[in-house]
Amino acid sequence: MEKRNILIGGAWPYANSSLHLGHIAGLISGDFLARYYRLKGDNVLYVSGSDCHGTPITERAKKEKCSPKDIASKYDEEFNRMFNGYQFSYDLYSRTFDEYHKEKVKVLFKKLYDNGYIYEKYEPQAYCEHCNKFLSDREIVLTCPECGEETKGDQCDHCLHVPTGSELMAGNCIDCGAKVVEKENKVLYLALSKFQKQIEEHTEKVKSEWRINAQNETTKYLKQGLLDRAVTRDLTWGVDIPLEGYEDKKMYVWIEAVLGYITDTMKLCEERNDCTWEDFWKEGHNNKIYMCHGKDNIMFHSIILNALLLGQEENYHLVDTIVSAEYLNFNDQKFSKSKGIGMTALEALDLYNSDSLRYHLLSNRSRKERYKFYN
Ligand code: MF3
Ligand code: ZN
Repeated sequence: MEKRNILIGGAWPYANSSLHLGHIAGLISGDFLARYYRLKGDNVLYVSGSDCHGTPITERAKKEKCSPKDIASKYDEEFNRMFNGYQFSYDLYSRTFDEYHKEKVKVLFKKLYDNGYIYEKYEPQAYCEHCNKFLSDREIVLTCPECGEETKGDQCDHCLHVPTGSELMAGNCIDCGAKVVEKENKVLYLALSKFQKQIEEHTEKVKSEWRINAQNETTKYLKQGLLDRAVTRDLTWGVDIPLEGYEDKKMYVWIEAVLGYITDTMKLCEERNDCTWEDFWKEGHNNKIYMCHGKDNIMFHSIILNALLLGQEENYHLVDTIVSAEYLNFNDQKFSKSKGIGMTALEALDLYNSDSLRYHLLSNRSRKERYKFYN
């Protein structure tokens, strides 16, 4: 039989804290798939990397009085050690702060803009007049209108309420305490709504092979109707926007990170002379694309990534199979760093053989509900 080109993507872990066993459970399927197709004799590329941008990393850097790059590098090094310990067989595990990734992502972003899928919009946003900057949800503190506790703006730590836009405007700047004001800001939006029909049709075609959690989550968004999404952020750490007038902004972290699967493929194929990146990403190459991750990552891979591919208008092959693991429990409770429940993936390697852990996590990861790890 003719060899197939199999691209397997493992979600890129955030380089801002250690991974626990649940993360490994979400990723391990990719390694088994890669080994399976290699044994069959197909051309396999299994790619991933560390997700190094985004506000949690900058916040952490501020707290520890070092640079975001220091934080990301530290965890990237730890992840490499950990994935080796679990015998992950990535063909490439890179980092989103690599120049190669940033340069290629800018080209893909520019193409979306030139094709009319990214457009400019002015909208009122939260601003601090003392710090002279726009504030992200996480940079706002407010009294939660649901439970009355003080919380950060992205989500209430106490009752899980997600503050609305107007609730955020009643908050204060996390750094200086000044009252938030509304100020008009220039933002770029990705026209997700334009891809509704194509993504619907594609999903219908391929979803029977997905786990039920991925089918449900994706259909939920499609039924609601896809909403356009802001893809610029007022940050200093991230990938530059390749357009004039956006020098002080960066790309929304999800947009650039999911494109890492392609930039990794480009990099690998540049180094090899037996494949081209198009073999894995364009139609008509006898190819198949798998994405492996936890259930909180579903819509980013089933909808956003496919929209970014469609928007290139270059005959890209869309994601075929979403492999989404359920959450893992530790001794009947959720893993929680702050409460000290569970253990990191590296700690587990000190206690158990990595093959045993691999087997346990793989064989239980697809349960319908949370599954358990007893130690
Ligand atoms: N960093 C994200 C998480 O840990 C996953 C990013 S996957 C990518 O949930 F494809 F966007 F890189
Ligand atoms: Zn609350």
